[in-house]
Amino acid sequence: MNKEPNDPLLMDHEADGIRELDNNLPRWWVWLFVLCTVFAVGYIVYYHVLRLGSLQAAEYQAEAAQGDALKNAALARFESDLATLKPVSDSLVLEQGKQFFANLCAPCHRADGGGLVGPNLCDLDWSHGSNYVDTVKVIINGVAEKGMLSWRGVLKPAEIQAVASYIYTLRGSNPPDPKPPEDPSKPVVPMDFE
Ligand code: HEC
Repeated sequence: MNKEPNDPLLMDHEADGIRELDNNLPRWWVWLFVLCTVFAVGYIVYYHVLRLGSLQAAEYQAEAAQGDALKNAALARFESDLATLKPVSDSLVLEQGKQFFANLCAPCHRADGGGLVGPNLCDLDWSHGSNYVDTVKVIINGVAEKGMLSWRGVLKPAEIQAVASYIYTLRGSNPPDPKPPEDPSKPVVPMDFE
């Protein structure tokens, strides 16, 4: 440690008695520095000069577009098979549907489905058809002019199935103080499955 004052590595400057030795940098450090520099040059040329690779934002957009395409394809498949859909009776699915209903639909249809802004979903009066498939269609497309939201792209097909199946279980449940039928003159429709 104790270097002689005439050590050839000892540099001229001094701060509060602290002096510096002009040692060579460790080899590993120098190599790391060289590699980083080479990498940086390659990176700049690849991404910013030749523009061969996509930057983060473009990569994100490409992946989001891929995701949207998958989602749309799934929905298109779902819609093309609509006519054959049947309500699900699995209790786990119905429980999931109930959760969706409580969170998303109850503000307009009331927690028990008895109707508020939206119509009563527990009676046998249906403005848009009483079939399960009609219910699924209304949920997907909404009824913009009457204030029923479209859940296209918000709920996944399986989630739409779950909430539609749950609604199906509400039929005939007679909650207290229900909203009266929108069109009382319409003939009451029978349940179309069981
Ligand atoms: C912003 C309020 C609102 C929300 C939220 C809402 N709805 Fe509706 N919904 C309505 C209105 C208003 C109608 C009546 C449309 C009409 O008369 O054409 C309706 C109609 C319906 C119908 C058709 C009823 C019939 O008589 O044919 C179904 C089924 C339905 N909604 C299900 C749902 C489901 C499921 C959700 C949640 C995922 C939901 N709604 C969320 C307002 C809402």
